[in-house]
Amino acid sequence: MSSEEISNLGNESRTFAPSAAFAAHANAKPSLYTEANSDYEGFWEKQATALAWEKKWDRVLEWNLPFAKWFTGGKLNASYNCIDRHVLEGRGDRVAFHFEGEPGDTRTLTYKDMLREVSKAANALIELGVKAGDRVAIYMPHIPEAVIAMQACARIGAAHSVIFGGFSAESLLQRIQDADATLVITADGGFRKGAAFALKPVVDEALLGTTNVRKVLVVQRTKQETAWNADRDIWWHELVERQSDVHVAESFDSEHVLFILYTSGTTAKPKGIFHTTGGYLTQTSFTHKIVFDLKAETDVYWCTADVGWITGHSYMVYGPMINGATQVMYEGTPDTPNKDRIFKLIEKYKVTILYTAPTLIRTWMKWGDEFPNSCDLSSLRLLGSVGEPINPEAWMWYREVIGHNNCPIVDTWWQTETGAIMVSPLPGITATKPGSAMGPLPGVDATVIDDEGKVIGNGHSGYLTLNKPWPSMMRGVWGEPERYRETYWSRFEGRYFAGDGAKWDEDGALWLLGRVDDVMNISGHRISTAEVESALVSHESVAEAAVVGATDAMTGQGIVAFIILRGGIDHVEGEALTKDLKAHVAKEIGAIARPRQIMVVNELPKTRSGKIMRRLLRDVAENRAVGDSTTLADPNVMKLISEGLQTAKSED
Ligand code: WT7
Repeated sequence: MSSEEISNLGNESRTFAPSAAFAAHANAKPSLYTEANSDYEGFWEKQATALAWEKKWDRVLEWNLPFAKWFTGGKLNASYNCIDRHVLEGRGDRVAFHFEGEPGDTRTLTYKDMLREVSKAANALIELGVKAGDRVAIYMPHIPEAVIAMQACARIGAAHSVIFGGFSAESLLQRIQDADATLVITADGGFRKGAAFALKPVVDEALLGTTNVRKVLVVQRTKQETAWNADRDIWWHELVERQSDVHVAESFDSEHVLFILYTSGTTAKPKGIFHTTGGYLTQTSFTHKIVFDLKAETDVYWCTADVGWITGHSYMVYGPMINGATQVMYEGTPDTPNKDRIFKLIEKYKVTILYTAPTLIRTWMKWGDEFPNSCDLSSLRLLGSVGEPINPEAWMWYREVIGHNNCPIVDTWWQTETGAIMVSPLPGITATKPGSAMGPLPGVDATVIDDEGKVIGNGHSGYLTLNKPWPSMMRGVWGEPERYRETYWSRFEGRYFAGDGAKWDEDGALWLLGRVDDVMNISGHRISTAEVESALVSHESVAEAAVVGATDAMTGQGIVAFIILRGGIDHVEGEALTKDLKAHVAKEIGAIARPRQIMVVNELPKTRSGKIMRRLLRDVAENRAVGDSTTLADPNVMKLISEGLQTAKSED
């Protein structure tokens, strides 16, 4: 984010007070804040009682900074809480998912249906030898079997590691190896942009590497031609369909590992963020209820995120299912077959709560109001945003064109690491400002501090930190306990550092200002500069690479790479080469990491200690005058880079 934008944020005078009608029936009550402030542990303990525990906990919190354990001694099963409980309490006929495939095929799954399908899948995993404590990699299109597979793992106490279907074979292999998964659940492919794409060949390629994967369970989604390894591969419909539909869920310790989810950090190696059971389920279900104001009997809730990201885990597979929500699940892209697809689905399923990302909202704005205007969106009563700061223009458009000035907007700040929403307005309580996430939720202790760790007040910006453990916090980085402490708890003593800049405005509203570290945010997805750099230098023509995230009107940030070619490689090949390099990065990491722009340079700006000064490159990438470069080892470098690029531009 550029400095001008940062200084503009937080100067917002428009405020939208909650409507009295909404407030009268809101799940959230102002007393939640006072309760949490007066008895922090008691507050979270109270929220935990909403879950079904086979055995109650002995202690609410064991805090050994930075390692927390919540509800120790307690035992429960995640899947039982998401599914069985609803069936046993008479809610089995309620729809859990209205699934819509991209080609237009539909499936309706009630909670009873989910119990049957998940039980069969759990029995299938047991037949394959999966045991509690094992890791299962899930690499799927966005179809119900992805949810069923996750729930089946949770049911038998195996940790799932979902890898987003857009990741490459290389990324998939790395994650399978790191978690030491023994089973991969995948599909022949899925539907996207009006065509079938293949997933199974990516798994085949990944498994050419060394792993302990014994079996690959394959859902038949597209019926495309699929290469088969008879010793290893099994069709889901052959194995799962013949299983008993009865499976008794076993309870596990509150601190039993529920899942691992890999996310980008500041180094090239992704971090395996892992979450455990009792605390995670407590906070995801609680926040889902108060932030989205879910009324399970009447609402139709739609979170547009893929299950491959934390948003899909917390606000599709766990939080909403614990709350017995009826959800929409859509497989494909928002412009297939037409740019009104999402709006058509809102109309068709009478969606009442929509949770989506700013990048999609800005895309809709660009496409034009005629698409939402041609559909009946009057069922909507609440709108949510997540993944990156939402700019005030997009927020206003969301409110007016999608919400018809009738829906509270919740801008929810959180992270893979936090597991649940931490900062958000509460509908019916908080007066909102366009673009602001407003403030920490009850039970969350957030502070903005400066470089020296001094607490910052209204009207100032600094770093967002969290000061107390919270139930759904990550429990560590898989296999790297020290990395957890170093990354999150070492910069400011006693505080969790989120990596985001933030500002309290004059009225005390909180504004998120984007990442302050070497992590980019592309369409709400985290990609580290180091990861892309490492992919670039793995190409034979690249000697050195520096990557920055430059402001992008649509995707929030776009990836811009500066590269130095190896000796003997001709600059003039320029265009073919940069095309090749973009494809190379997509192949190494996945299409989301494809650079928007690659610039060939002769030098990179480095400090005397050899650290690349990305700030200066960002100035170039965003077409600004280059800032202070006095700490460069060679102060002329930026001049050379700018001049070199000028020449390159005039040659175009
Ligand atoms: C990073 C976490 C949380 C699910 C999606 C992303 C950015 C997230 C917001 C928001 C401003 C936001 C932050 C954060 N972010 N939500 N409402 N306003 N920034 O999860 O991949 O773990 O990324 O996304 O920079 O640190 P993630």
